[in-house]
Amino acid sequence: MIKLTDNEFTDMVTYVKSNYGINLINKRQLIESRMYSVLAEKKMDSFSDYFKLIKRNDTKEITVLLNKLTTNHTFFMREQAHFAFLKTVILPQIVKKNSNKEMRIWSAGCSSGEEAYTTVMVIKDFLGLQSNQWKFQILATDISANAIEKAQRATYQEDFLKNLDPSWKRRYFIFKDGSYQLKPEIRKEVLFKHFNLMDPIPFQKGFDLIFCRNVMIYFDQATKNSLTNRFYDVIKPGGYLFIGHSETIQRDQSKFKYIQPSVYQKGGR
Ligand SMILES: C[S@@+](CC[C@H](N)C(=O)[O-])C[C@H]1O[C@@H](n2cnc3c(N)ncnc32)[C@H](O)[C@@H]1O
Repeated sequence: MIKLTDNEFTDMVTYVKSNYGINLINKRQLIESRMYSVLAEKKMDSFSDYFKLIKRNDTKEITVLLNKLTTNHTFFMREQAHFAFLKTVILPQIVKKNSNKEMRIWSAGCSSGEEAYTTVMVIKDFLGLQSNQWKFQILATDISANAIEKAQRATYQEDFLKNLDPSWKRRYFIFKDGSYQLKPEIRKEVLFKHFNLMDPIPFQKGFDLIFCRNVMIYFDQATKNSLTNRFYDVIKPGGYLFIGHSETIQRDQSKFKYIQPSVYQKGGR
């Protein structure tokens, strides 16, 4: 194992935190173990040599670094209460108030796509036959190129589908070679993009709902506050933000109205 010196560790933590928001201060072992194969493959025997590459802004190397250091665990219908809230509160409100029959949802920190695809299934289930008359745009973004690639492949092991209603599993997946391939009717509704949540948000049209669940958990408080405020600016009046169930937003630092644990709303509709 190649040892990470104190200085190298500080360098790595500072670099990742200031560029990607992720705080690795308690993850020294994780850095050592996950980066070991990268250094070994390059026949490098110190982290300092590796940082020289990273600091040259070498896109290919940064992609590898982010693939290694992000935690991408997710599954279909994770934190089911959000999907129940979507179905029973948000979608009826959207249908009632929206004569254009358009809705926009963003899965921010989407990992391998399960959150965004579950959202499409819930919307289709709610709209039923009317779903053809609606234009729904589901944007899903992540900094991990591996995660986005996996999301676009849309092929999952059974374990990741265990919270899904068996009838949805039958309707929306094809079982092939030991895994479940999501059908085009769900896949075509999601647009995946590589996007760093530390950057200014370039998506101009407002969102009815943003999911940012189990992402800010890795950010420090100031980064969380700043991102939450930027989300506020791109959510439509009356729109919602979902965060992870173990996360909170500092209410005195945000204009969002607290609705229930992990559910916030922008006022004004
Ligand atoms: C644990 S997954 C959460 C997936 C899903 N939202 C859920 O709750 O199941 C966290 C994701 O956040 C992404 N992430 C972390 N920092 C990010 C950043 N600065 N910009 C965009 N995505 C980021 C990671 O790559 C990872 O895929």
